[in-house]
Amino acid sequence: MRSTAELAALDRRHVWHPFTQQQGWATTETPILIDRAEGTNLYDTDGNAYIDGVSSLWCNVHGHRHPAIDAAVRAQLDRVAHSTMLGLSHPPAIELAAKLLTVTPAGLTRVFYSDSGSTAVEIALKMAFQWWAQRGEPQRTRFICLENAYHGDTLGAVSVGGIELFHSLYRPLLFDAWQARLGDDAHLEELLGCHGEQVAAVIIEPLVQGAAGMLMAPDRYLARVRELCDAHGVLLICDEVATGLGRTGRMFACDHEDVSPDILCIGKGLTGGYLPLAATLTTERIYEGFLGRFEEYRTFFHGHTYTGNPLACAAAIATLETFERERTMDGLQPKIELLARMLEQRVAPLAGVAEIRQRGFMVGIELAEAPPEARMGHRVTLAAQRRGAVVRPLGDVVVLMPALAISEADLRRLVSITADAIAEATAGELRSAASASGSHSGPQSSYSVKSRLRAPQTGQNQVSGMSSNAVPGGMPPSGSPSAGS
Ligand SMILES: Cc1ncc(COP(=O)(O)O)c(C=O)c1O
Repeated sequence: MRSTAELAALDRRHVWHPFTQQQGWATTETPILIDRAEGTNLYDTDGNAYIDGVSSLWCNVHGHRHPAIDAAVRAQLDRVAHSTMLGLSHPPAIELAAKLLTVTPAGLTRVFYSDSGSTAVEIALKMAFQWWAQRGEPQRTRFICLENAYHGDTLGAVSVGGIELFHSLYRPLLFDAWQARLGDDAHLEELLGCHGEQVAAVIIEPLVQGAAGMLMAPDRYLARVRELCDAHGVLLICDEVATGLGRTGRMFACDHEDVSPDILCIGKGLTGGYLPLAATLTTERIYEGFLGRFEEYRTFFHGHTYTGNPLACAAAIATLETFERERTMDGLQPKIELLARMLEQRVAPLAGVAEIRQRGFMVGIELAEAPPEARMGHRVTLAAQRRGAVVRPLGDVVVLMPALAISEADLRRLVSITADAIAEATAGELRSAASASGSHSGPQSSYSVKSRLRAPQTGQNQVSGMSSNAVPGGMPPSGSPSAGS
């Protein structure tokens, strides 16, 4: 086994990390190399422990090395690790589909597998587009998304994204989408009124826009979006890649407002954070629109090599069974309340904190205004790591999204470490700017239009709400889109 220093040197020489400005990574930073994990703790190659404060990028649910999920993957490994879903099927994919449909919003009857949240979204967009074409309304080629939306990094998902820093550079490669303002149902109504005949679907992240920095929709906004889609005969795609599998305090964010989408995208927590698996679920009405004789070519021509991978499906079945056996959702509510109390007591009073947004186990702590080069979010991350917690910022929003299984003791420790890390990182320079706007918006809902993830120059047409595919008017975001690091 190589030493930590040797591995770090090899990493710097050969590995290109996602959403990371490699220049700093490769020169000034000492990467933490995760060697193993247990429950909600990660351990590095030198044996140091860290609370996994973002559940390994928002996907770990029941903790690492959960005995039931480990056993399910091992048992599947003894049968077959991978076999294709193209022209064949296998028991774990079948069992998982049936089980998923018992916990997802009513009306969904069909499960199309893929391997990441981005692919689940690509599939949703293509499915909606093709369904309308085959239904005799081929003019419905457009999508409405929300400002500040994030649906993944593949080009279709980026086309319906609205985070300038991540997305504006790629505009020449993208298709157009109209952008509605989060929480403003009149604006959505206006867009549907003007363009409804051309719209295939509205796509939204229900309740919480995660990657935008945990922006919260006002209560009943999702239900209103559903009503407006129905009124204009437009499909609703709900992207629950981040919010699904318990994160908001209900199994799916849609459950809070009794909404059933036409198409639902899930990923991340589906396997408990073990293996890459995603699914796009839809209704019988949509599914039937793809039926016909082979030579009619109504087939949904889409599929990935690892679609419905058996190991991943086995992990997902075990994840859903663990929700039932451990009554995870029942135990979550007190922890959500504890998290809210801890944030209020420990984080809200800090001078370097402008706002706290929380919905269930999704938390965004917006730091007080600072110049981008101060990299306050990143400084907080480093200070938290030194104290034994892994957190990851989105720009200057510090995100907390622990596994649902985290113990109350570790939850307290995570918030304490985060508070101390913010105090250290923001000490001095930000005190006066921050003290003017401190507030905690409470555990259930809040609404903010702030986002630190804007690029300085964009091709966005703010007036019409249509994201433009014109080449951005100015330079791309300075540096690189490494908002988190
Ligand atoms: C709402 C939402 N959709 C889609 C994605 C993309 O998922 P993946 O990173 O698995 O492609 C993400 C990832 O954070 C997300 O938050």
